[in-house]
Amino acid sequence: MKLKIALLPGDGIGPEVAAQAVACLQAVEEAFGHQFEFVEAPVGAIAIDKTGNPLPDDTLALCKASDAVLFGAIGDPKYDNDPSAKVRPEQGLLRLRKELGLFSNIRPVKVFPTLIEKSPLRENRISGTDFVIYRELTGGIYFGEKFLSEDGNTASDLCIYTEPEISRIAHLAFKAAKTRRNKLTLVDKANVLESSRLWRKVVTRIGESYPEVELNYLFVDNAAMQLILNPSQFDVILTENMFGDILSDEGSVIGGSIGLLPSASVGDESAMFEPIHGSYPQATGKNIANPIASILSAAMLLDHFGLDEEAAAVVRAVNKALKNNMVTSDLDANSKYGTDDVGHFIASHISDSDDFRGLNKENIGLGKSTII
Ligand code: IPM
Ligand code: MG
Repeated sequence: MKLKIALLPGDGIGPEVAAQAVACLQAVEEAFGHQFEFVEAPVGAIAIDKTGNPLPDDTLALCKASDAVLFGAIGDPKYDNDPSAKVRPEQGLLRLRKELGLFSNIRPVKVFPTLIEKSPLRENRISGTDFVIYRELTGGIYFGEKFLSEDGNTASDLCIYTEPEISRIAHLAFKAAKTRRNKLTLVDKANVLESSRLWRKVVTRIGESYPEVELNYLFVDNAAMQLILNPSQFDVILTENMFGDILSDEGSVIGGSIGLLPSASVGDESAMFEPIHGSYPQATGKNIANPIASILSAAMLLDHFGLDEEAAAVVRAVNKALKNNMVTSDLDANSKYGTDDVGHFIASHISDSDDFRGLNKENIGLGKSTII
């Protein structure tokens, strides 16, 4: 398969982790005979420094002309600490999501058995956790009208949703539930918010055409608690933009590190793949960031194009790294392995013969990996 991939490394650790995702995709190219063309472009704080615009026109045009976007991370403390900044890196990401019509953000949360003891939660609470969050990504409070009074003392952000915005992602979430354990939980705040009551109405109606899927409802405050108390009860969680942002960060620690969670953002025409973590500025340039979320995002990219075997090979190589404790220091404080070591290990095990077609027999096992 031929794919043109727009590579947007972005800020902070973005370039370091995205480079490892690219290395893994290149290993897939070689092992499976595909052709992936990567074209890099600036976005975020780095693009503001270069052009004054967090999403330069050329970057947007490249993304529109590509089959997929591979995204690193966005954000810079110099803007976080300046509430009066008029131009902000995050505007680049939000505009990109809107312009590409990426209305559905898919964030799988799974506990890797090898990492269970790294979780801040007890093993008996989290074992068996395997759910996916469908987060609406181009509506709600993120995109509603913003207001700041002239004296600067009053501000508001409008949370607005329409029926079509809810129904298009609801269909995707119900379809996903059908391929999983047939359970969908709508998370909202329908006891308080009018927009949540619209979500309930629309999702309940759509649910009638998916009779095999059990539909539940949870208020977001309760959902935040249930995620910690009993995460394995969830299969598909469907929710609006900001609740999904918050709950997915919460969900990410169940598995031991936010550095593990990938995401896919899809629309009718475009798709973008990015780790759920931020730009982790304190780690920038130190070669300590965990590249696994970015690499698993690349696996979601492969999956999106129907390259299941290829995606599975990447996931297997990631599992091999975790099993062999080839991890960065977020997962093992004593680890001496850097971002590039972990990425290189995973890339070099993608075509392993013990789990794939008999190639590279001599490379099996940690002892003979190229970086040991
Ligand atoms: C995410 C991030 C973004 C969001 C930020 C960087 C704008 O937190 O993708 O979860 O809030 O959507
Ligand atoms: Mg977030």
